[in-house]
Amino acid sequence: MYDYYLGGKDNFRVDREAAREILRDVPELFQTARENRSFLRRAVRDLAKSGIDQFVDIGAGLPTQGNVHEVAERYVPCSRVVYVDNDPTVLSHARALLARERKTLVIKADARSPDLLDRVRQLRLIDFTRPVAVLLVAVLHFISDDEDPAAIIGRLRSVLAPGSHVVIAHGTRSAGGVAVDAMTNTYRRATAPVYLRYPEQIEDFFAGFTLIDPGASYLPWWRPDPESDLSDATRWHFGGVARLDS
Ligand SMILES: C[S@@+](CC[C@H](N)C(=O)[O-])C[C@H]1O[C@@H](n2cnc3c(N)ncnc32)[C@H](O)[C@@H]1O
Repeated sequence: MYDYYLGGKDNFRVDREAAREILRDVPELFQTARENRSFLRRAVRDLAKSGIDQFVDIGAGLPTQGNVHEVAERYVPCSRVVYVDNDPTVLSHARALLARERKTLVIKADARSPDLLDRVRQLRLIDFTRPVAVLLVAVLHFISDDEDPAAIIGRLRSVLAPGSHVVIAHGTRSAGGVAVDAMTNTYRRATAPVYLRYPEQIEDFFAGFTLIDPGASYLPWWRPDPESDLSDATRWHFGGVARLDS
């Protein structure tokens, strides 16, 4: 469904039908996916510019272009990237996309699995004694309270070196009413349930890290490009970037 929102070609009729069902109540559906993707690119750009050269992208999705390794390499050519996703379709995508890459790897793994970072470490691409940026962009809202998304971030905090960063984007309930119901009900039937949360709950996921400017915000307002027009920007995704100080 997300691939369809972004104008990709790797989607099935059933995905498109489910997306169109949501579109009836959420006409800004495609826009909000683009806003999320644009935030990811700005975050990676600014982290690379600040000297981060190692990235672990959990729930990567891997659209056809503008992926983490492509953005990071523009600023730091030696950047290393590990993509993680639990969807086998993403892996087949990745094989085609990354066939000639040496500094970029992909593994099929689940964000909820306690040994996730050990598996990343075993690839010997990322040096966890140095700062790493871990991306959890539009993935934590597929993790229920019972599955404890905060614990996933806690595990990161316990193994990352000081100077590491976490990038979080998360779907919100801010639109309220019919729109949130349409999103929640269709996902429950279509792919995996989605657990939209309030901005304050999402901000709590940064506990133990220090948010960098401008703090946590609706994504279109996070370091917008100077030319961007925010007059019809949406409040469907909230998040930010935070640093581990010690
Ligand atoms: C909405 S896409 C986001 C893709 C990308 N991070 C972005 O923001 O553009 C969510 C991705 O997370 C993956 N995903 C969902 N739950 C996951 C989990 N528990 N572990 C790993 N990946 C997961 C899905 O397969 C999908 O590729």
